[in-house]
Formats: sequence, C-alpha cells, structure tokens
Amino acid sequence: MAKSIRSIGVLTSGGDAPGMNAAIRSVVRTCAYHQIDCVGIFRGFQGMIEGDFKFLNARSVNNIIQKGGTFLQSARSQEFRTKEGRKKAFDQLINYDIDALVIIGGDGSFTGGMVFHEEFKFPIIGIPGTIDNDIYGTSFTLGYDTALNTVMEAIDKIRDTASSHNRLFFVEVMGRDVGYIALNTGIGAGAEEILIPEENLGLDRLLESLKRSKKSGKTSSIVVVAEGDKTGSNVFELAEYVEENLPDYEVRVSVLGHMQRGGRPSCFDRVLASRMGVKAVETLIEGKTNFMVGIQNDALTLTPLDKAIKGETIIDQELLRVSDIMSI
Ligand code: F6P
Repeated sequence: MAKSIRSIGVLTSGGDAPGMNAAIRSVVRTCAYHQIDCVGIFRGFQGMIEGDFKFLNARSVNNIIQKGGTFLQSARSQEFRTKEGRKKAFDQLINYDIDALVIIGGDGSFTGGMVFHEEFKFPIIGIPGTIDNDIYGTSFTLGYDTALNTVMEAIDKIRDTASSHNRLFFVEVMGRDVGYIALNTGIGAGAEEILIPEENLGLDRLLESLKRSKKSGKTSSIVVVAEGDKTGSNVFELAEYVEENLPDYEVRVSVLGHMQRGGRPSCFDRVLASRMGVKAVETLIEGKTNFMVGIQNDALTLTPLDKAIKGETIIDQELLRVSDIMSI
C-alpha cells in the first residue's frame, strides 16, 4: 500500500518559462483543496540540497498567475549531479516531512528527478515547463504558446524597419535543438525563409530562394533562424555569406535572446498550467509516481518519465509544407 501523501514539495528547474507561476499556484491550491501541506522549494535542486523551503498556502500564491518567470526561482545544480548532493536533498525532504515532489521543468530536470527517484524511491511527477516545446509526450509545454506570440510580435517589429530600409534581416530565435519556435513564428510573421535543425536544405537553396524573392519584387526579407540550425556555423556568418553572394541586399542580424522567455503568460498557458497542476497533485495522491503530465488532443495524459526524457519529438510535415508554399 503506497504511503499516503500528506505533504508535497514543488520546485521549478532549468530555463524558466511563462506559466510556471500559474503551475506553482495550481499545485499549491490543489494541495489546499485536498488538505495536504505544500512546500515551495526555491532555486530548484540546489535549494532542495540547502533546505531553502517555505510552506505555502492558498493565499501565498495570490496575484502570480499573470506573472512571467518563477517566484520559486530556478537554478542549475552541479552538486545535485553527485550522489552526496542528492542524499543531502533527500535528508532535507525527510526533515521537512515532505512525501512527494512536483518538478516543473524540462527534460534535464526530469532526468535529475528520475535518478533521485531510483536512488531514494521518492514519489515524483513532472510538469513540462520550457519554451522549446521539445518534450515527448505532450503537444504543448508550458511557456511555448507565450513565447510564440512574443517572438512573432518581435519579428513584426523587425519587419517594419526591414521594409523601411529595403533590408534582409536574419532573426535568430531560441528552441535549443528543435525548430518549433522558428517554424511557427516564421509562418505567423510571414518570413521569406525559415531555417530549422530538422531540415538542412543548404546555403545554395537559401541563396536561390532569396534571389527569387528579390526577382518577384520583394524589397525586404526576413529569415528566421532557429538557434540550433546548422545551415551556417552561426547566424552572423550565415548573414555575411549571403551578403557576399547577394550584393544587392543590405543585411542585418537580430538575435532575440532571453526576452523570449519573459512576459505575461498567455491565457492558453495559464489554463494549461492550472490543469497540469491539478493533474500532478491528484496523480501523486493516487499513489502513482515517475510520470510527466502532458496534453494531447486537449486531453491530459501521463507519460512515463523515462519515455518523456528519451522520446523524440517530430516536426510537423504538413506545417513544413505550408511554410514552403507561403514563401513562394
Ligand atoms: O530551454 C530553454 C532555453 O531558453 C533554450 O531555448 C535556450 O537555448 C536555453 O534555454 C538558454 O539557456 P540559458 O538560460 O542557460 O542561457
């Protein structure tokens, strides 16, 4: 018979994402609803090692649903990569009478959680929080929808100046090793070209496409480049190469950077976070562990953590075809 859950710890780990605060709020309030204690763990696994804990109740999470970032903060912990560090963290949880953990983060955070579970048989549930949307077992990770709109609005602004100066802009966006942000925002912002890690169509094809755009009367262009793209060694060298080979284009580069991780979460992300928080807590109460909460076809799902970590996400071929047609 699984030990009854009387107290749940919640932490955020890895790159922050809009919607994390909404997820924390949901975990805390679902615990309150089930009359279970909830303990906020600050600064991810490092805070767990140091016992940086605070009891949270339904009122502790007032007025945070609309805020980007994570009030529990996040950190990367080298110490948690050691067995000694994980033992310290385990002892802290026991000292605080915490029975289970909700980990809000990406695949790196889930890996840490899974190793922790294997060593201490400590119940854990993951909520996918990253703007990259690169986690198997869910159609949406928390923060992805907000980041798409943040990036698209930034590209719209860049297009204003590009068209005012007849310039070609290379806009680098985040996404780590996948191209979901680049592909969707490129289509949404009407980019002439989108370069993603999942496709490497080569420099010649890029030049041909830009020459065709020019011939068809386009006086300015936007090329959205996912940071993981391998067409060029980096976006600056890519821009330099194109400028050398297309002398009638004046080229500029804009790297959007960490602003893509900020901002007020969208309604979609707030609702998704609230749904996932309830599911995570109630899954632990049911005595289950080592799952990631996901959403597929608008239904909440549970994916074994090892599958979520190892599973490959696949870029949507239909979306790729749409992007090709739109750039005619
Ligand atoms: O995983 C989210 C993310 O923003 C990636 O898109 C990006 O490559 C990475 O984090 C940046 O990490 P850091 O915040 O450590 O610079």
